[in-house]
Amino acid sequence: MTRKVLLTGGCGYIGSHICMELIKQGFTPVILDNLCNSSTIPLRRIEQLTGQPIPFIEGDIRNEATLERLFSEHAIEATIHLAGLKSVAESVAKPISYYQNNFAGTLPLCEVMQRHGVKRFIYSSSATVYGLTAQSPIREDAPTAPASPYGQSKLMAEIALRDIAHADPQWKIAILRYFNPVGAHASGQIGEHPNGVPNNLMPYVSQVATGRRPFIQVFGSDYPTPDGTGVRDYLHVCDLADAHLCALRWLDGAQGIRTFNLGTGRGYSVLEIIDAYEKACGHPLPRQFLDRRPGDVASYHADPGLAVDELRWRATRDIEDMCRDAWNWQSHNPNGYVES
Ligand code: NAD
Ligand code: WQD
Repeated sequence: MTRKVLLTGGCGYIGSHICMELIKQGFTPVILDNLCNSSTIPLRRIEQLTGQPIPFIEGDIRNEATLERLFSEHAIEATIHLAGLKSVAESVAKPISYYQNNFAGTLPLCEVMQRHGVKRFIYSSSATVYGLTAQSPIREDAPTAPASPYGQSKLMAEIALRDIAHADPQWKIAILRYFNPVGAHASGQIGEHPNGVPNNLMPYVSQVATGRRPFIQVFGSDYPTPDGTGVRDYLHVCDLADAHLCALRWLDGAQGIRTFNLGTGRGYSVLEIIDAYEKACGHPLPRQFLDRRPGDVASYHADPGLAVDELRWRATRDIEDMCRDAWNWQSHNPNGYVES
């Protein structure tokens, strides 16, 4: 009997990497995804790589009937909840969608889990819940003050989870606040390919590297950082996936709810990322320096000490690994997931 874990949003960028790791470590992931920002191609690729069939339900976390059926048909022991919308800019234009998916969508999921006596939960949160003035290295007890509806919606789900855990001590919940996940699986078979123009640095750099876009736009070169460009705590997506497996094991002995930062604990500037990517792809990457992007902070990085101590997790991949794997994925899949 393998241990079944519900992975909501499992067809997406981070979910597909967690799916791969769950299978590698002997779990059976059951995927629930409405495919609003993904397809089932990553699942088919993971099935090919692992030789394991992956149970998949196309459906929405907000649909209670779908959830009821899923929990009746599968003996789920824990949920890793990634399903949601993630664009800061889009959330400003469409706040209702963000509150509905990210905050309200978490509630029926917890309700149905509670009805079925499944009370182990791992939640994908984000460093974006911290205020713009948080002091780095950022600890989990830093004040929260999200600057966008996206960040608010993630924090509201966190708050609801805290109340759920306090109301019923049988719940065991790990809230994982990711810093900046980048890179791809070493196979080059799964990775990130946003629709349209990428909002985030790494996928944008990847598309310049393949020639899809002419130059990197560097937002701001006058920050109070060593080279004047913004500094972030980039984290390899496979290290992030490993952290979820550590959190699953942590839940076995845990009680109540706990929040963990997931980052490497060190920052890299935009120019350092570009330099590392140039080494990975073997050619120069044109860039243009533009004004700062509104709402950006100069620099932040995590204090991942709590995850190291309690989850027994530590990021092991460095910036060279992140850029090498991002390039391996992008150069083999320049148009993202296309049916083969
Ligand atoms: P993604 O868009 O690639 O994956 C999200 C998946 O959820 C998609 O497959 C989408 O189709 C699905 N989905 C969305 N709404 C749904 C719904 N209502 N019902 C069912 N499925 C739904 O995004 P990602 O980068 O893999 O992010 C996953 C999670 O991690 C999100 O919750 C996001 O907030 C969080 N996170 C991401 C980052 C990042 O930089 N990528 C950083 C911090 C936190
Ligand atoms: C990184 C640095 C930019 C694009 C976002 C979300 C956050 C989380 C992770 C989900 C900054 C600069 C960027 C470009 C650039 N996601 N940049 N040119 O803003 O730290 O975090 O993703 O939870 O919520 O806000 O990441 O990759 O957009 O930016 O110069 O084309 O790269 O100014 O300094 P960010 P990012």
